[in-house]
Formats: sequence, C-alpha cells, structure tokens
Amino acid sequence: MILGTGRAVPKRVLTNADLEKMVETTDQWIRERTGIERRFIADDKDTTSALCAEAGRVALQAAQLPAEKLDAIILATVTGDVTFPSTACYVQEMLGATNAAAFDISAACTGFIYGLSLADSLIASGKAQHVLVIGGEILTRITDWTDRATCVLFGDAAGAIVLGPGDGQRGVIDTFIKSDGRLTPLLCMPGGGTKVPYDVAVAERLMFLKMEGREVFKHAVTAMGDAAEHILTKNNLTAADINLLIPHQANMRIINATAKRVSMPLEKVYVNVQNYGNTSAASIPLAMDEALENGRLQPGDRCLIVAFGGGFTWGSAIIQF
Ligand code: COA
Repeated sequence: MILGTGRAVPKRVLTNADLEKMVETTDQWIRERTGIERRFIADDKDTTSALCAEAGRVALQAAQLPAEKLDAIILATVTGDVTFPSTACYVQEMLGATNAAAFDISAACTGFIYGLSLADSLIASGKAQHVLVIGGEILTRITDWTDRATCVLFGDAAGAIVLGPGDGQRGVIDTFIKSDGRLTPLLCMPGGGTKVPYDVAVAERLMFLKMEGREVFKHAVTAMGDAAEHILTKNNLTAADINLLIPHQANMRIINATAKRVSMPLEKVYVNVQNYGNTSAASIPLAMDEALENGRLQPGDRCLIVAFGGGFTWGSAIIQF
C-alpha cells in the first residue's frame, strides 16, 4: 500500500507569455492545443537527483519511515544526472538509505507505472518490504528552445511514493505495462548514447528531444484508452467503481480522449497540466501527491492511473487508498 507521497518542483516559472518572447508562438495556441499555461523549469544548479531526493524525503516523512528502512529505490527518468551511475544511487546517498538497492528505469512518461509495477512485485514476492518509487525529470535540459513544436510542452518536476506491504484492503490492486519498440523514432533523443559519437551528436543537434507530434498524439490517445480499458475489464470494474482517474499530464486533449474512452466523467479526472506542462515520469506521482493534499483523493478511494510515453511505452494501474 502507499504509505506516503511527496513532490518537488524547481523555483523558476516559465509562462506562455515568456515563451511568446522566445519562439513564434502564442498563449492562445498553446492553451488551445495543449491546455498548458505555465511550467516550472530548473536553474543551472538544479539536478534531477536533488529534485528526486527532495520529493523522496517528503514521501518518507509522510510515511513516517526512516530512510534506512528502504529496501529499494526505483527511479524513473530519461534525464538522469549522468549516463552512469544511476541517478537512484545519488538519491540513495542524499537520503541516507543505506540498506536499499538503487536503480533507474527508462520508460519515458510511463516510467512511474513501470516502477510501481516492479515495486509491487518485489513486495508481493517478499523480496522487499519498503520501496521508494520516484519519477523525476529535468526535461528542459534536453529541450530545443528553437523548436516551437516541442519547447512549449515540457516542464521539470519530481514525484515520489513510499510503497509497503498491503493490509488486505489497501494497496496496488493491479498493474499493466506494455511497449512497442517499432515506434522508437517518433519520440526520442537521438544523441547522447553510444550510437552517435558525442561530438557528432552535438554538431548535428541530436542532444535534444525530438518528436513527431501528430503521430505521437494519435498513438497516445489509442494506447492510453486501451490501457485504461484493459485494466478495468481485467479487474471486473467500470468507471463507476473508480473515484479518481489520474492520467499522465501530457496534453488536455489526450486527457479528455482517455476519459471519454472509459466513460469517466471529467469531474472524476485529475488535471494539473495547466500548471506544470508535461513532466514525463514525474507527472503521475506529482498529481497523486497534490490530489491527496487537496482532498481529491481520500482514504478508501480507488484510483486509476494511466500513462503513455517514448518507446513507445504505456501502462495503467489501479490503487486502493
Ligand atoms: N505555436 C504556434 N504554432 C505552432 C506551434 C507553436 N508552439 N507548434 C507548431 N505550430 C504550428 C505548426 O508549425 C503547424 O503549422 P502549419 O500548419 O503552418 O504547418 C500547425 O501549428 C499545426 O501543427 P501540428 O503539429 O499539426 O499541430 P497539432 O494540432 O498536432 O498540435 C501538438 C501539436 C504537439 C500540441 C500535438 O501534436 C500533440 O499534443 N502531440 C502529442 C505530444 C505529446 O503529448 N507528447 C508526449 C507524449 S508522452
């Protein structure tokens, strides 16, 4: 079950009006196509590990769990501090989680659901008791600020949950994860790995997130709808059995389409994309933490989460709070 949640965002805010001064765009275009109004962006000194550690610390406090009691830290990110070691290892050091295994997961915007699924399996199998799952990104470091089709979409944040054994009533009811590696070119950062030498990657501007927006949009709508429908059907549940749907916060139009697909009324859908933009792996735990804080999620509630991201990857989970 979820013992505690936390979130962290950088201090700096970038509004649509700020973006109007940087690229040829308008506040109206961004709002109409995405629903986004502002996003938090990291300063030069901010690191993904520090944001993730801050979110993790808050989640541990909420769970009233000392960091030494963690058996694992699973960190979902595509913007880790360095290629290796894992960002999770930096976070482990920052938190003093001396007894934890620590590793990263790369599943883009679905990373948190992948991490949740794995954490739940570790706990269910008895291999772990307490697992910290974090989704954290500084996407603005891989944003091409000359590409108006992508730079208006993303923001930086971290969200975290502490997972412990269920009590028979509360906990992760089910998770579902999928991917389709045939679609990698549609959303990726082509440089920065071993495929293209660094000097070539920098010279050819391959160190930035690249996206075929329209194609990604179509796949996201289908996959998120499929994932939500699949997990409800598999568990003999309908929208009426769900108190809150927390979809990955990429775009208001994708959120609306997902809700419609499973006949979920919009008042049961959590939306904060207007304030943060797309924060990839951070978006669902961030929204979950906010929803618990502002009362949209209450003890006893059943929550459906669903996400889609680069890879492509997609997935869903049902959690009883
Ligand atoms: N401001 C103003 N105009 C813009 C713009 C911006 N920031 N970005 C693109 N445009 C222009 C395009 O150049 C194009 O102009 P043209 O018709 O003269 O060629 C026009 O707007 C339409 O572009 P298109 O890409 O077809 O727009 P769209 O309706 O598909 O919206 C996205 C673009 C990116 C908002 C939309 O495709 C989307 O949300 N995709 C999914 C993105 C996503 O969520 N990714 C992460 C998944 S986890």
